Amino acid sequence: MNFLQNKQGRNKVTGCCRIDGSHRLVPIMKTCIGGSEKAIERLIRNGGLFHFGMIAILDFVFWIGTIPRIVKKEGDIMGNAKQLNEISWKKFNELPLVKKGEYFLESPHHTLIAQQFSREQLENLCMLATKIRRISKRRSGANFLRTLLSDKRAMLYFAQPSSRTYLSFKSACETLGLNTIDVRDSKTSSEVKGESPEDTVRTFCSYADMIIMRHPTGGFAERVAWMLSNTNRPIPVLNAGSGADQHPTQALLDIYTLERSFEQDGGIDGKSVVFVGDLARGRTVRSLAWLLTLYNNVKVYFVAPEQLQINKDVLELLDAAGMEYEVTQDFVDVMPKADAIYMTRIQDEWDIDGESTTIDTSAFCINKEHLEILKKTAVIMHPLPRRKEISVDVDSDVRAIFWRQVRNGMWARAALILATFGREDEVNAYFAKNNLA
Ligand code: NCD
Repeated sequence: MNFLQNKQGRNKVTGCCRIDGSHRLVPIMKTCIGGSEKAIERLIRNGGLFHFGMIAILDFVFWIGTIPRIVKKEGDIMGNAKQLNEISWKKFNELPLVKKGEYFLESPHHTLIAQQFSREQLENLCMLATKIRRISKRRSGANFLRTLLSDKRAMLYFAQPSSRTYLSFKSACETLGLNTIDVRDSKTSSEVKGESPEDTVRTFCSYADMIIMRHPTGGFAERVAWMLSNTNRPIPVLNAGSGADQHPTQALLDIYTLERSFEQDGGIDGKSVVFVGDLARGRTVRSLAWLLTLYNNVKVYFVAPEQLQINKDVLELLDAAGMEYEVTQDFVDVMPKADAIYMTRIQDEWDIDGESTTIDTSAFCINKEHLEILKKTAVIMHPLPRRKEISVDVDSDVRAIFWRQVRNGMWARAALILATFGREDEVNAYFAKNNLA
């Protein structure tokens, strides 16, 4: 028997193996009753019922002895692998973010929150993104990539305005030959007929092998992942932006952009990253700030008007992770310290009564004059869309990398999708075989 220990600590039988073991009986009997191996073999061959009984008893005793070891060994693997179908929604929903992340390590590989990533996973995804990018440069490579997921279909469900994230995912899917279907407006779905959002999504999932979704309700992607994991069609869910809380794939592409920018300069470790703008309601900042805690000696500055400053819950997470940060309103003061400046727009779609129109945001913009005081090696990023927070004449500066960031998004998302389906080995093999390093 093969015993695996599930997370409640119960043993469950997951398969059978032969209780035969005559190959191991000879040494055991040698130990137990003495005599040469040959003599024992003869005993086994010639022995009557008595000997057979002895053998069976000894084998049983030996097998019983191995159970604790099997349980421990398999338990070590399974002990960390928390499954969404083993916890109620209520309990799961109440977990702190870092604990929730532990539920997304196993198949199906949902990508829902920044807190589920390890640094090693990020580094692997960045390497995979680079391989996909390089392979796609040649027609033969692009054709090869298009075979990788040609047996799969993705549902793009965008119930919130989106053009770049939608197109980024769609292009990533096309790069890998993954067919897509989409719903971009929940008014065109049966939700208007009174269907619950859960039923709507479950219907969509019947047509697809993966759902990539953006939704105005914070936590809804998690709810969908939990719901699907408790059905017989548990397809992976990729969160393409949920409410004002999480945007894990934007954070992933931001990490990829930072990695590429500091490739020749020791990587992300030890860098200073300055977040500017509407930090209270910007989900990209919330997700990226967490991912930066996975790197060594990164210092973060949060620069915003008081009403739009980063929320306490994010700072608590950073405190727990031991990250150094400063909260300030003085953008010009921190500009020269920045290795990366991450600009964001005012997220006024979350205003209740036009309150952001009363806030003076003029000191939270970057223009050509500011470029003078920036480090020569600094980079200026933006998840886009931008408004006035970066003046257009900054675009031509080599440090303005937000357009490259958009393109990086496509590669990072292609890498994530491929890894979600566990097909990255084929890319690695192709890359090595064609000497593309
Ligand atoms: C961001 C988003 O939707 O949160 N955009 C994006 O995904 N590229 C940022 C924003 O809308 O300001």
